[in-house]
Amino acid sequence: ARTAAVIPAAGRGVRLGPGAPKALRTLNGTPMLIHAVRALAASRAVSLVVVVAPPDGAGEVKSLLDAHALPDRTDFVVVPGGDSRQESVRLGLDALPPEYDIVLVHDAARPLVPVDTVDGVIEAVREGAPAVVPALPLADTVKEVGPAAPGEPEPVVATPVRARLRAVQTPQGFDRATLVRAHETVTEDVTDDASMVEQLGLTVVVVPGHEEAFKVTRPLDLVLAEAVLARRRL
Ligand code: CTP
Ligand code: MG
Repeated sequence: ARTAAVIPAAGRGVRLGPGAPKALRTLNGTPMLIHAVRALAASRAVSLVVVVAPPDGAGEVKSLLDAHALPDRTDFVVVPGGDSRQESVRLGLDALPPEYDIVLVHDAARPLVPVDTVDGVIEAVREGAPAVVPALPLADTVKEVGPAAPGEPEPVVATPVRARLRAVQTPQGFDRATLVRAHETVTEDVTDDASMVEQLGLTVVVVPGHEEAFKVTRPLDLVLAEAVLARRRL
């Protein structure tokens, strides 16, 4: 089985605030995207990484990949992305050569995922799961809210049992044919790839995630990511 990774990196990063597209913002001097590419290429099982660049930034991303040291045993391809994460992932899948039968989809916005997490996802797909997600238990209690009446606070309508909830990360791992079929079949907006496979009626399984696989979303996350990197160098 050959394994490729698709890294959607085409988002603007609106929640991070004004500046370059999120994947091109730096952490301790190195673009987030380069950290993410290295994290996936660190797995010996991953022989191809497809980076889905901002729609007008494919040339810049190619130059970045050329300018940074990356493993020789891995191939790199850059394609321009789309308006939604879902479309960006589909454009990445379209660029995969036929010989790859396992696909990982990994957010460029999760630059610090440890290689053991990547390998755990691949292992579970190799053992036969059509879709695998790394996940962690929640620290916060989660409430579902209903619509607020004008001028009123939002009402809580339900409290799911926290012990049964998981916060899901990436890389998510797939049997390639299954993920392609999911992207061809599911038309509504989703926030991760595995939920499209769930909609096909297939079982998605969970493997342990990692605290350092958190998503850089808001400005405080940049502070945390740089602190994690600084600690790793010690
Ligand atoms: N992504 C993408 N194409 C898009 C939108 C998002 O490839 N049109 C990617 C982002 O680059 C990121 C991943 O999907 O690596 C997860 O998305 P998110 O964290 O939401 O990033 P952004 O969409 O860039 O951030 P925001 O929602 O705050 O604008
Ligand atoms: Mg987004």
